[in-house]
Amino acid sequence: MSSIPPRYSRITGTGSFLPPDRLSNEALAARLARDGIETSDQWIVERTGIRARHFAAADVTSSDLALPAARHALEAAGRSAAEVDLIIVATSTPDMVFPSTACLLQRKLGVAGCAAFDVQAVCSGFVYALTVADAMIRTGAATCALVVGTEVFSRILDFKDRTTCVLFGDGAGAVVLEASDQPGLLASELHADGRHVEILCTPGTVSGGQVLGDPLLKMDGQAVFKLAVGVLESAARAVLAKAGRSEADIDWLIPHQANIRIMQGTAKKLKLPMDKLVVTVDEHGNTSAASIPLALDVAVRSGRIRRGDTVMLEGVGGGFTWGAVLLDY
Ligand code: UT7
Repeated sequence: MSSIPPRYSRITGTGSFLPPDRLSNEALAARLARDGIETSDQWIVERTGIRARHFAAADVTSSDLALPAARHALEAAGRSAAEVDLIIVATSTPDMVFPSTACLLQRKLGVAGCAAFDVQAVCSGFVYALTVADAMIRTGAATCALVVGTEVFSRILDFKDRTTCVLFGDGAGAVVLEASDQPGLLASELHADGRHVEILCTPGTVSGGQVLGDPLLKMDGQAVFKLAVGVLESAARAVLAKAGRSEADIDWLIPHQANIRIMQGTAKKLKLPMDKLVVTVDEHGNTSAASIPLALDVAVRSGRIRRGDTVMLEGVGGGFTWGAVLLDY
């Protein structure tokens, strides 16, 4: 009796892109001071670990940032865009109401025909998108997927609200995920709790040719903080149990890059030393769906994450959404 060989998915290349305009805390504080908003480098560093963020120019969109990130990932994987049969883009700052940013990226890559769609799970978007791509590869619906997280969060920031505008930045990260007879993605956990919509949202919408409601980001930082610490621990433990692994097996933890204190708290609960944590929040700020693939690419290109390492990715954010992916790189 012949058996069907197992089919897994594996990351074969990573890429990222940051818009060139880097704004230090001091430069942002000086800009906000012109409008009478007080903040300081000291407050931002102490409360968040953020030292700088990148902002895209006014005419640069999420698909513009996604394109170089996708090209870098394809190059690293040794694939051409024509070989991709699935494009998933995670973003909460799409170029348009429709079509999807994935379709716009597909056109910019100069290819046509493959499936392309967006995933909207805010800061958990990349973990969601990777899980969907993995499932499609395992079932044979796709063979070579481009999975991208890209954001221009600067577009939805209220620069009169110092409690949020100092936290976020723009950028994009991408991976190529391919079918493999070796695992790859070991397990994933996705969750949402819509009862907490209001603690992190951008409630405005387009209606009748006008923006209806507030189109700028609102966050109850303390409520998000408390929820995030709890769910990042539970998702990590659940995904390890699913994969039959333990905390000791984790070589690298890449949590969503929102606040160094949340990341340190998660590492402590999992009894992971801080040098197993990939940290880019200091230089990128919170780039929402882009934060995890950006951090992954930085760690891969700097030689820290190597083939065979066990990596945990963890997302958490608006929705409320959260999730974890465990993988052998
Ligand atoms: O991406 C999705 C996930 N998002 C997150 O994970 C964000 C989670 N939340 C957080 O990271 C933190 O709650 C914040 C960084 C947003 C805030 O830190 P906090 O330690 O919770 O500060 P707080 O909100 O308790 O504010 C403390 C003080 C307040 O002043 P009073 O009321 O104590 O006088 C704020 O008005 O800090 C003040 N404050 C600021 N001061 C200077 C708030 N923002 C600023 C600012 N500069 N930018």
